[in-house]
Amino acid sequence: MTVPLPRHVAIIMDGNGRWAQQRFRPRVIGHRAGARAVNSCIDFCIARGIGALTLFAFSSENWGRPSQEIDALMKLFLGALEREVAELHRRGVRIRFIGERSRFAEAIRQRMTNAETLTAGNQVLQLSIAASYGGRQDIAEAARALAREVAAGRLDPEAIDETLLGAHTALSDLPAPDLFIRTGGDFRISNFLLWQLAYTELWFTQTLWPDFDQDLFQQALDDYARRERRYGLTSAQVASGQQESTPL
Ligand code: FPP
Repeated sequence: MTVPLPRHVAIIMDGNGRWAQQRFRPRVIGHRAGARAVNSCIDFCIARGIGALTLFAFSSENWGRPSQEIDALMKLFLGALEREVAELHRRGVRIRFIGERSRFAEAIRQRMTNAETLTAGNQVLQLSIAASYGGRQDIAEAARALAREVAAGRLDPEAIDETLLGAHTALSDLPAPDLFIRTGGDFRISNFLLWQLAYTELWFTQTLWPDFDQDLFQQALDDYARRERRYGLTSAQVASGQQESTPL
């Protein structure tokens, strides 16, 4: 029997600050350790053949953190963009960023665009980094795009359905996440991919993000493989293969 593998995994990487505090170190040390866990997680996806990975690196709400922590995170993002992109490209990773890019400094924006352009044709792993991202904002932007089409007379409001709205949200060219992982012990979605997570299997762990290793990732995959995805149908219907298609 083949064990189902998620095509797309989305992760909230929570717990960096507490990881550092437990060691009596500044929070930035936790974020640095978190960046190492990101690398290991990407390696794992490539090795296991998971086609898409989306990471919540910085939420719209994170701009409210103390300026010292924001500065440290920005330095970390810039450093990661400078160090990692060439190697990720060599390994066939396509990188993209979702979220309100205009809020980042020019140097970061430039490197984001460069990374996206360089890796645009890669197909081994679709790596999406949510940065200054909010799920409600994503849906609002999709609504705004459709409203513009209606105002310009190019779209009949009656033609707006879930498929069309979904097509204007972030990552609409990817299958929706099959598996959502949140580390750090909280049981929340925290405004991540609200539209895209509608039918996603949710998996939570107390482990803090810097300690999230490949064994734990495998445990999440094993649990995922045991889940029955019914999409609103009955078990009997699912067993007889009656679901016509998986929703986006
Ligand atoms: C949440 O932990 C984590 C963040 C807000 C930042 C995530 C950033 C990284 C993992 C580092 C680098 C990422 C990339 C893509 C290079 P928290 O600070 O909220 O932890 P806490 O809940 O323990 O305070």
